[in-house]
Amino acid sequence: MTIESLNQELADASPRQIMKAALSRYDNIAISFSGAEDVALIALAHSLKIPFKVFSLDTGRLHPETYRFIDQVRTHYKLDLEVLFPDPRDVQSMVNSKGLFSFYQDGHGECCGIRKVAPLKKKLATLDAWITGQRRDQSPDTRNEVPVVQTDLSHSGVNGELVKFNPLANWSSKDVWDYIRAMEVPYNPLHEKGFISIGCEPCTRPVLPGEHERAGRWWWEESTQKECGLHSGSMIAKTP
Ligand code: ADX
Ligand code: SF4
Repeated sequence: MTIESLNQELADASPRQIMKAALSRYDNIAISFSGAEDVALIALAHSLKIPFKVFSLDTGRLHPETYRFIDQVRTHYKLDLEVLFPDPRDVQSMVNSKGLFSFYQDGHGECCGIRKVAPLKKKLATLDAWITGQRRDQSPDTRNEVPVVQTDLSHSGVNGELVKFNPLANWSSKDVWDYIRAMEVPYNPLHEKGFISIGCEPCTRPVLPGEHERAGRWWWEESTQKECGLHSGSMIAKTP
């Protein structure tokens, strides 16, 4: 079955069914966990009782709460959780020439490229498929086309083609939070302090009532630029 047909078949499936299809179809697959409300992915996978792997990208700039939460999730679900680090030479050369907060001056592209995108690319090159917590409602500017499963056109897997599952694509933020509450899933305590979308500490802030969740990310930049490069393919990969 092609990925396009699988996407059509799963288009209206529940996140649990999509997760089940992903984990049953691929052995060499992993969940990409940011330490935010995408913990719902881990709870869903755990409930299926199929073994699964998880990785988190440690940019070196996450909130202390997020580091503690990632470790809490590892223990709570007894996870095989791999923490990935950027190349220290690249971080060192950027920071020593431009300082620790260059993204406020020249945009987040370079820093995200070194701290997130490069380590992700290296990890994905060892996999056949990956699972993310992207949702359509996360960003009207960049994510409203996110399919439940797609060929990842921005990355390559161990055998060339890499498949990307987005089991939460059809869920709203409210659906995710209803699930977290109903299933008593542990969550990042930053959510109790007004944070909705959570990324790195210097580039994330709480949002005001009525503001879109993405407004708290890279707030000094245009909304159409609010992608760090992990999911650049989402904007072009549409279902035929
Ligand atoms: S980002 O591209 O703007 O940083 P976002 O925070 O919306 O992404 O998260 C969307 C999904 O990307 C998460 O559910 C997760 O699958 C993946 N992701 C984002 N940040 C990380 C991270 N630090 N480590 C692992 N996965 C991540
Ligand atoms: Fe750097 Fe900010 Fe991107 Fe984190 S979100 S990698 S601190 S630019």
